Amino acid sequence: MAIYNQPLYYEIAFSFINPKKQVDNFENIIRRFSKIKVKRFLDIACGPSLQLEEIAKRGHGAIGLDLSSQMLEYLKNKAKKQGIKIETIKADMMRFKLKKKADFAFILMGSLIVESNSQFLSHLDSVAKSINKGGLYLIQNYYLDYKEANASWEMERKGIRVKTTYKSDFKNNLSQIYTEKVMLEVNDNGKRKKFINKRDVKFIFPQEFRTLVKLNNKFEFLGWWKATPSIWDLKKSLGKDKNLNGNIIILRKK
Ligand SMILES: C[S@@+](CC[C@H](N)C(=O)[O-])C[C@H]1O[C@@H](n2cnc3c(N)ncnc32)[C@H](O)[C@@H]1O
Repeated sequence: MAIYNQPLYYEIAFSFINPKKQVDNFENIIRRFSKIKVKRFLDIACGPSLQLEEIAKRGHGAIGLDLSSQMLEYLKNKAKKQGIKIETIKADMMRFKLKKKADFAFILMGSLIVESNSQFLSHLDSVAKSINKGGLYLIQNYYLDYKEANASWEMERKGIRVKTTYKSDFKNNLSQIYTEKVMLEVNDNGKRKKFINKRDVKFIFPQEFRTLVKLNNKFEFLGWWKATPSIWDLKKSLGKDKNLNGNIIILRKK
């Protein structure tokens, strides 16, 4: 997972988000849907999590789970420098359990990617074991629309320029396997570097997603809404929109 061992370049690539607005959105969504008071937030596949920094600054418990030691180390160092507390857990999001449950979990930027339906169900089991009853699980930019998944953009910070390219190609229609390719092309103050992630994963069609949530039986499906990277006002439910990939899905632990 070459690109996930590059937290700084990854953070620059995705620095178009506004973490303050995103955490405001969390608070609004919690007020509207959560059945419990939220003290502990869990960011699954957290990466360099600007969101956990904001959550910790607001005085809440902040926990980041990721498989990449480099990402977690980077996040811990940022927290230390700012004098805030972020707990980190190195674990596979497909199979994990927290020692102390969270009240709200989220997974952002299309990070919920699986290789099979059983992996998806195992992920739901893990999240269910890790959040309290009545708490929410928020999923952002779940890959609902395989037709619209190619993108490329550039971001810059302090002389480091990062071009990100995302591409997905269906490989096998019967098994719904597609190849996902993410590439970071970096110009770090004149030094050029390239990092590529390529892997085969399973597309779960939207109605299949709902059926699997029902089969898992540990969450209520509260809905799916249109969203931009940082505005999640849940005013518009997904409908006949051309691109479904800018979305928020909310589940509530039974
Ligand atoms: C697309 S990045 C998202 C990072 C961050 N949440 C954001 O919104 O920018 C995906 C992250 O998922 C992590 N990851 C990939 N597979 C994982 C797995 N099976 N379990 C836990 N983390 C995983 C990667 O290390 C990476 O940090």
